[in-house]
Amino acid sequence: MRDEGLSDALLAWYDRHAREMPWRTSPLDRAFGVVPDPYRVWLSEVMLQQTTVAAVKDYFHRFTARWPRVADLAAARDEEVMAEWAGLGYYARARNLLRCARAVVADHGGRFPSTRDGLLTLPGIGPYTASAVAAIAYDEPATVVDGNVERVMARMFAVQTPLPAAKAELTAHAARLTPMQRPGDHAQAVMDLGATICTPRNPACGLCPWSAPCQARAAGIQPALPRKTPKPEKPTRRGTVWIARQGDHVLVERRPDRGLLGGMLGFPGDGWDGAGGPAPAEADWQEVGEVRHTFTHFHLYLTLRVAELSTTATVTRGTLIRRADFRPADLPTVMRKAWNIASGSVMPG
Ligand code: ADE
Repeated sequence: MRDEGLSDALLAWYDRHAREMPWRTSPLDRAFGVVPDPYRVWLSEVMLQQTTVAAVKDYFHRFTARWPRVADLAAARDEEVMAEWAGLGYYARARNLLRCARAVVADHGGRFPSTRDGLLTLPGIGPYTASAVAAIAYDEPATVVDGNVERVMARMFAVQTPLPAAKAELTAHAARLTPMQRPGDHAQAVMDLGATICTPRNPACGLCPWSAPCQARAAGIQPALPRKTPKPEKPTRRGTVWIARQGDHVLVERRPDRGLLGGMLGFPGDGWDGAGGPAPAEADWQEVGEVRHTFTHFHLYLTLRVAELSTTATVTRGTLIRRADFRPADLPTVMRKAWNIASGSVMPG
């Protein structure tokens, strides 16, 4: 099949099987001239770099209900956005999200640039996001390559080179297949194909619009592709986290803007991020358990200590806030795990 024929077959499949997503303009709407909102496309793509479609849906609804346009997001307070992002992980991305929204308002009159090159000038927008927004929102024939697309290309062309070394080769295959007609739908179709048919295990080749030309299928090696160079083991870091209560107040500490969990609300800690530090107050600290969490580059084991502070205790770190003003949902996941253990222990929440 010629490359255009491949895209035609895929688009015909997508017209029938496109997944419905809150940020997506369906192929039918698109055919009737409905134009996607670049703000919603951009927001969803940044969120989808963190987690699955299913998990993103709730976050997307909350963000767009609270900040319906990019100017609304740009005007939000940093802490509000960090709190809504809590749980998605990789908090530098939320800070970049805000920087980008503010640049769109300050430098582009509140409208996203309408080309991949223009999008790339915005803070926090890298090649993947620029291509995805250019293709999906503006129908520019940009090539969008995520993990799903890499898997589809590795199988279609039986690429034996392991990832990550194979990235350039897989991107070149994806670029060759990108059509001039409906490139935005094509980009989303390849991703949907990877997510629903060409899955890592047990691909549903019988339902695949590309099964006939698929070289891995012809050779019977599709489950073995893409090959991957094993990742080095993640190191384990250890430290302490202190959760204290004083009457109806809870001791919290906002993390510095830079570094791990930058700008997020948490509890005083020590050791694990290279920063030492004493307990935040003199108290009868009780060890109540261990929190385990895995970040991109390391596992973290935190010893959890809790205390009820006396009314005369001197607090040397963090801020005491009213329990009624404290929302555990605003915490990053590792700190929420600590809170959950603490509030089920001697320190009722
Ligand atoms: N994964 C990331 N972005 C996507 C999109 N626009 N459609 C389907 N899956 C995706």
